[in-house]
Amino acid sequence: MTTEPVLRAPRLVALREELTLAEKVGLVTGATMWSTREVPRIGLRRMTFSDGPSGVRGEVWDERRPSLCLPSASALAASWDPGLVARAGTVLAGQAVERGVDVVLGPTINLHRSPRGGRHFEAYSEDPFLTGRTAAAYVAGLQAAGVAACPKHFVGNDSETERQTVDIRVGDRALHEVYLAPFEAAVRAGAWVVMSSYNRVGGTTMTESPLLAEPLKGEWGFDGVVVSDWTAVRSVASASAAQDLAMPGPAGVWAEGLLDAVTAGVVDERVLDDKVDRLLLLAARVGALDGGPARPAPPSVGDGRATAREIAREGLVLLDNDGLLPLGPDADLDIVVVGQAAVHPRIQGGGSATVVPDRVVTPLDGITAALRRSRVTHVLGAANDQVQPLDPDRVTDPVTGGPGVRVRLLDEHDRPLLDELRHTTALTWFGGDAPVARSSTVEVSVRWTPRDGGPARIGFAGVGDGHLTLDGTTVLRARVEPEGHPIESVLVPPGTSTAVEVRAGVPVELVLRFRPSERKESLANATGVTLGAVTSAQEPQRLIAEAAQRAARADVAVVCVGTDAGAEAEGRDRRDLRLPGHQDELVRAVAAANPRTVVVVGSGAPVLTPWRDEVAAVLLSWFAGQEGGTALGEVLAGVAEPGGRLPTTWPAAEADVPVLDVRPVDGVLDYAEGVHVGHRGWLRSGAVPAWPFGHGLGYTTWEVGELRVPERHDARGPGPLRLATAVANTGDRPGKCVLQVYASRPAGGPGYPARTLVGYAVVRSGPGVTVPVEIDVEPRELARRAGDGWVVDPGPLCLAVGRSVTDLPVHATVELV
Ligand code: BGC
Repeated sequence: MTTEPVLRAPRLVALREELTLAEKVGLVTGATMWSTREVPRIGLRRMTFSDGPSGVRGEVWDERRPSLCLPSASALAASWDPGLVARAGTVLAGQAVERGVDVVLGPTINLHRSPRGGRHFEAYSEDPFLTGRTAAAYVAGLQAAGVAACPKHFVGNDSETERQTVDIRVGDRALHEVYLAPFEAAVRAGAWVVMSSYNRVGGTTMTESPLLAEPLKGEWGFDGVVVSDWTAVRSVASASAAQDLAMPGPAGVWAEGLLDAVTAGVVDERVLDDKVDRLLLLAARVGALDGGPARPAPPSVGDGRATAREIAREGLVLLDNDGLLPLGPDADLDIVVVGQAAVHPRIQGGGSATVVPDRVVTPLDGITAALRRSRVTHVLGAANDQVQPLDPDRVTDPVTGGPGVRVRLLDEHDRPLLDELRHTTALTWFGGDAPVARSSTVEVSVRWTPRDGGPARIGFAGVGDGHLTLDGTTVLRARVEPEGHPIESVLVPPGTSTAVEVRAGVPVELVLRFRPSERKESLANATGVTLGAVTSAQEPQRLIAEAAQRAARADVAVVCVGTDAGAEAEGRDRRDLRLPGHQDELVRAVAAANPRTVVVVGSGAPVLTPWRDEVAAVLLSWFAGQEGGTALGEVLAGVAEPGGRLPTTWPAAEADVPVLDVRPVDGVLDYAEGVHVGHRGWLRSGAVPAWPFGHGLGYTTWEVGELRVPERHDARGPGPLRLATAVANTGDRPGKCVLQVYASRPAGGPGYPARTLVGYAVVRSGPGVTVPVEIDVEPRELARRAGDGWVVDPGPLCLAVGRSVTDLPVHATVELV
């Protein structure tokens, strides 16, 4: 490592000097799936980590210990509101403190480089500046309450294909200006932990990368802990790099080999000491050291549910509206709500980010509540083919006959190691105390009362062998093979199902015996299995025709569509950007039957919307968290504004997307587009997207006033470049305007993007009110990376201001000197 530790507080150095070599080695590998080791002798307690980033799951994945589920990251970023993001951080800090969590594994600040990236729901934007600002606000909000943030995954984990090994080849300028920039913003906001990623950059796996030393610990002065992504430490040699903590534990390559390597002088003990110093500093920061400062009480932000609802509203993007919306809270209408997503919404993406909330407000619930005078009904219209957990209201425990699901973990002689009552048939053990490692079979038993009779499909999701009986008769015996890394087998397992006949309201007894496949040692205490059914085994065309008939008779149709776990989840990328299944056909059929059709898209990342000119309005709700249904109802009714603006360009056609392919060639993914990512790439190619970056409508209208900038600006000085303008609300309702500033170089210059987002401000005002606005553009936003530093090219700089990257009514030029 080339850098000296930034902070060597004498008290912490003295504590470290009390530790034996074995204790020091012990500290740099986790003690469990989620915690570090305690050393009571020096007053050090264990520190607990938890996913993140849109909720705090805690050490167990269990509906009996629920957590608040905020909208996913792309929704949060769509608010463009750092104040709201900071409040989200504070709410999460409160959740962390309640669960004994010291480090929240978030924010995820990789970029939406290609819309095919399967994990974009968990990240903010295609734009490095918007991502960095959002990340900084999240870090500040969380850490003000004494809970560490952990920006991840450092760096280049912008897609999921071969994510454990893919080698990202990216030029130095793009690396610094685009991919490292958000991490720099998060570190400069004071992040106490950073997570290194699984992938390689420039041939080196990130847990061994020189980038951990420079720029992270050197140029940026990061004095915190670099934790590995789970199981990402692959060699003892990585201990000589600036990687500080290997997670999870207790198994792992450092646990096996680091003590010998230090003893033999292969790894310098001073390098180990630096890691320990950083861990002790983290412990002091989160209140894990006796005699250190106690953790401050998280500031009160009221009901977490209210914040969840507010973020959902502020992230909702009204993409198109021919005037049908808002419907008006007193509207007296016959409204048909269509779609599986209306009753089984995806409130969050799949994978480690998952939390288990205590309730979910569905779009159907929210619309019914907000439009009280209207008659709101639901029709399915289309169903996906994935195994969904059984509805907890329709299952009982076969042992007691009461509500619940009977779950047993059995050893190899079928002796129960655990026998308990659960309230879900979707079971994930990922750490925690359950004797998963010692068990060989998971048995899930329920009495299930189907709502509808006729053909049904039942089955399981889980990597391993499953045997499913219905009333004692075998209906399915199958092996499901892994589709990715063992972590993905646990968190987002694929599934299988079989056709059966059931009668409506007649209970059947289902017993699933599941034997997970061989597990990696470090994941020995982890397994995931779901007993479930697909939502409908009906012919798709029949379901669509039924929805269209129903829509034809209604005043308004609201079709809820979205992606599913097959399309958007950790560990996989998307094959294409179409809505899964028959949802496009469904929208078209409903729109043909009723022109007053509103489409609500629930996805974490762009989908194609080939029907967008055939419908009255399109709303993007993202993965809207547990309270998303309420927010949707309020926005449709018009008691709330749709506050979101696109943090990522939405394409009209896949062929137009400037950066699309995420498949490595011979293990290498070439970021050949350089700095021209996202809207920069779209402007360069000239292709017209469905909706541009920054776009989003409200229910009022705005006018942006004249732009005032200084004639000359010394961009090498420390001061920002100040812009001044005013925005007038020219409509008849209060509203929110997200004013955006883009810079371009009219004289050209070395490799600049067509336009760069350099500032923004959220303005809220009432009808007829004009608000003066000042926006400061920081010196860094005007510089480019050259060699080991940043340079500003003198010359004219055009600054354009408006409400999306292509709607920039006012501009002015300043001479940079
Ligand atoms: C994910 C991380 C996550 C970790 C622990 C990994 O698979 O990439 O984002 O924090 O698991 O769940």
